[in-house]
Amino acid sequence: MTHPAIPVSRRVGQFSYAIRNIVVEAQRVEAAGKKVRYLNIGDPVAFGFKPPMHLVEAVEKALRDGHNGYGPSAGLASAREAVAAEHTANGWPISADRVYITAGTSEGIELALTALLDEEGEVLVPMPTYPLYTAIIAKLGANARYYRCDPSQGWTPDIEHLSSLVTPRTRAVVVIDPNNPTGATYPVEARRALIAFAEKHGLAILADEVYADLGYDGPVDPLGKLAPDAPIISFSSLSKAYLAPGWRTGWLSIGRSPRLDDVAAAIRKLADGRLCSTVPMQYAVTAALTGDKSHQGTFRTDLKLRATLTADALRAMPGVTCMTPTAGFYAMPRIPIPPGRTDEEYVLGLLRATGVLVVYGSGFGLPAAEGYLRIVFLASPEELTEVYRLMADYTADFLR
Ligand SMILES: Cc1ncc(COP(=O)(O)O)c(C=O)c1O
Repeated sequence: MTHPAIPVSRRVGQFSYAIRNIVVEAQRVEAAGKKVRYLNIGDPVAFGFKPPMHLVEAVEKALRDGHNGYGPSAGLASAREAVAAEHTANGWPISADRVYITAGTSEGIELALTALLDEEGEVLVPMPTYPLYTAIIAKLGANARYYRCDPSQGWTPDIEHLSSLVTPRTRAVVVIDPNNPTGATYPVEARRALIAFAEKHGLAILADEVYADLGYDGPVDPLGKLAPDAPIISFSSLSKAYLAPGWRTGWLSIGRSPRLDDVAAAIRKLADGRLCSTVPMQYAVTAALTGDKSHQGTFRTDLKLRATLTADALRAMPGVTCMTPTAGFYAMPRIPIPPGRTDEEYVLGLLRATGVLVVYGSGFGLPAAEGYLRIVFLASPEELTEVYRLMADYTADFLR
């Protein structure tokens, strides 16, 4: 007797994360004997970067010292205090009881969105966005509304468009600065305009600041510095600026505004339900934030060089445009694809022809016909030079 397949939740149908979804096709290409260059995932460790040794030692010591039981749901007091002290030193005064240690920025995003949204609730997300936001919003049965970021203005948010999207169901606006996928950092006027917009409409601001320490001109201030009393929830982690994404350790920080007291209590309830985040790794949070950060200076220099190399090589391809990134390790060029074709066709064709794997812009919410794609430029300058040579040849063929 055959039984029908066990049904799957409708919400999963809306849950999409292109950055990893395309790996299936890359593995097929690899199995057929072609070398694949994975420029799709922003993992510095995959390209030879390593977390500073004092972080590794802090985790090792915690394991040896027997810190292997459950910890407090909100996180170790020492780690929470280190996060609060860092925000305060950077101009955003908050207390340790407003900090939660999370399984990466990702869990912080999920906790905050879950605390804020009922079904039918709406969140304003940038276009292009980091796709976890839209995936989780869909999982919650709520709705994402995309606000335009303008490539001709350094990918800064279009406040007029943002304002046109507000409804009585809007709960929050997501601000990713420095930005993935565009590589932009927002000028202070754009940041002020976002805060004023949120204030006017009574919205929470979800500030994704996971790349804040990777601005090429030095660390970027927390958004909360401009408005310490605004209802801002900030996310960050050890994944990018401390080179330890596999440790799945980050933090969620809630501004001091009393308007966020209920949200803080709701996040606390949700955090209790998932018991705690990994305990030994939490010892690395204190080591990271209070210890030697000289690796960041070296990393920023390495990134700036790759950003320039990337933007120059891409702009040298006929018709291709690309803003030079100012932070992080992503670039978002636009290929002038012919009418009727899509960014996904370009990306899959590039993969099959050259083994270079990048992510199509529609995976970040951009229209497929616009021809954007995202490149992770963490590979060595030599490898990147080879990648852009392969891309130039393929692009010329594609556009012919
Ligand atoms: C903007 C942004 N937010 C969040 C994350 C998730 O990072 P984490 O490893 O801290 O969960 C990433 C990872 O690429 C990201 O780019």
